[in-house]
Amino acid sequence: MTYNSNIKRLRRLRSNPVLREMLSEVSVTIDDLIYPIFVEEEITEKVALKSMPGIFRIPENQLEDEVKRVEAAGIKAIVLFGISHHKDEIGGDTLKKDGLVSRMTRIAKNASESMVIITDICFCEYTTHGHCGILDSDHDVDNDKTIVNLGKQAVLAAEAGADIVAPSSMMDGQIREIRKHLDESGYIKTLIMSYSTKFSSSIYGPFREAGGTSLEGDRDKYMLDFRNPTQGILESMIDEEEGADILMIKPGLLYLDMLAKVKANSHKPVCVYNISGEYAMLKFAAMNGAIDYHQSLHEVLIAFKRAGADLIITYSALDWVEHFHNKE
Ligand code: PBG
Ligand code: ZN
Repeated sequence: MTYNSNIKRLRRLRSNPVLREMLSEVSVTIDDLIYPIFVEEEITEKVALKSMPGIFRIPENQLEDEVKRVEAAGIKAIVLFGISHHKDEIGGDTLKKDGLVSRMTRIAKNASESMVIITDICFCEYTTHGHCGILDSDHDVDNDKTIVNLGKQAVLAAEAGADIVAPSSMMDGQIREIRKHLDESGYIKTLIMSYSTKFSSSIYGPFREAGGTSLEGDRDKYMLDFRNPTQGILESMIDEEEGADILMIKPGLLYLDMLAKVKANSHKPVCVYNISGEYAMLKFAAMNGAIDYHQSLHEVLIAFKRAGADLIITYSALDWVEHFHNKE
């Protein structure tokens, strides 16, 4: 028998499942997960999304039950997206007290005492051109007009019961403007979770079907270029300075470097968005027998936690709960 005592032996640490369990450093808990819900006005039946198997657009009159279902699963927070049938040039429906943003937020808030209600604040799902704000004569989004309207939309969401508003349009100065509007309207307790480091990405594809947006052109003049990690950090740092309570990295899987760096550079909680295309990649690969969905999902969520995520928005939240949490 030969025994080389010079070898450093980490394998001893992995020698049985109990030890491995005891020594595991990173874990996911149900409190980390935020479930997105798509709410469509003027429909009566759920609509299944082809590019996101297992995800539906929910009619307004089924939203209450949907929130209760998510609550019963033990999930603590949801983020709401509206699918509008009242689109116009500026997304004017979001600025009305009885518009879809307000109605869905109110329904969700009234459905559960404890559920944390997060309302996505943007215009792309409410404009005919699909851009995240008001267009100027050059077909570019007018930054400073748009942020004023974002402030108004956020106040209406807060008034309807949003605990957290989540601006996703990547306009400069939007966090300062939204904080100002909220504070002046008395909503000093409403949190702002900023989509602070948001890249222009082709992996948002399935969301376009989900959110019913038809984009003219692209968003490259306001979303980050994925070749620019330094700007990626700077965007989150500026939003923190402007008063964001929670920062966010989006997309998630291809941007773990951004997540780790923002976490290292800020003391604010950091959320990551496990986006539609990431969900689709796992689902379709699993449906075709290439990978195991639940094991891959676990690995994905652990990767987010390892990189520093405090919160994870994921379409897989209910799948995770059903497969892992209830079995503990
Ligand atoms: C709206 C918004 C989008 C997403 C979240 N909020 C669409 C986009 O920016 O193109 C993407 C979510 C996903 O892909 O899962 N501003
Ligand atoms: Zn948008």
